[in-house]
Amino acid sequence: MDVILVRDYEEMSARAAEIVIAALRQKPDAVLGLATGSSPEGLYARLIDAHTNDGLDFAPVVTFNLDEYVGLGPDHPQSYRAFMNDRLFDHINVKPQNTHVPDGLAQPLRAHCAAYEEAIRQAGGIDLQVLGIGRDGHIGFNEPGTSLGSRTHVAALAPETIEDNARYFAGPEEVPRFAVTMGIASILDARRCILLAGGAGKAEAVAAAIEGPLTSQVPASALQMHPDTVAIVDEAAAARLRRADFYRWQDRNRSQILDRL
Ligand code: F6R
Repeated sequence: MDVILVRDYEEMSARAAEIVIAALRQKPDAVLGLATGSSPEGLYARLIDAHTNDGLDFAPVVTFNLDEYVGLGPDHPQSYRAFMNDRLFDHINVKPQNTHVPDGLAQPLRAHCAAYEEAIRQAGGIDLQVLGIGRDGHIGFNEPGTSLGSRTHVAALAPETIEDNARYFAGPEEVPRFAVTMGIASILDARRCILLAGGAGKAEAVAAAIEGPLTSQVPASALQMHPDTVAIVDEAAAARLRRADFYRWQDRNRSQILDRL
């Protein structure tokens, strides 16, 4: 995994935006995998800015979100569909029919999960997947213990995830207990991944994911198996990385070889 250490949230968002914008310039009809939550909000603001001020065209872009709460429909203000409309889709020219978020009201859910996987396949697979990381090391809603071979499925939220996500709801009791989430194997199928991690609360999960053993107990550690993942980590979240100096050195030297890659 490539690791880029940055000062703070702003720099994390700016580095991520550079990568996404470059990918879209290279492949205008790219398929993007998207996440919700605080980690990618700054990235989305920058994508909106690139669209509004630099004409970045999202018309040919297709998106697939990682997850959605079971029981929340698209009109529910705390649904991930509503989050995406509000933070990104309503402000760019992506075609609504090209944006996919799992349907938390689908029945039967298992058939919906299989159809979601199929839709990703039909779209040609995900070119670039944006990920956050949970305090417990989850990616998507793949909590510790989830099979590393999992595909899109219905997952139970861990208690710490319910606690963390309660900030978006009136209280923890309002947070749905289940979600539809792309699986770990579905995520690993993406051609490229960007993992965003900021804040001291993520330090332990980040160290375990990047430098710990590959284990289903830390779902993000599965990214160690992925051939093209970059983790963009701010100083606070990097506090427990043992090889931080190497990552900084590598990043400084990267520019010397960029034109030969
Ligand atoms: C969201 C998702 C989650 C979040 C993670 C971090 O779609 O799949 O895995 O990325 O819980 O959340 P934040 O960014 O709010 O700290």
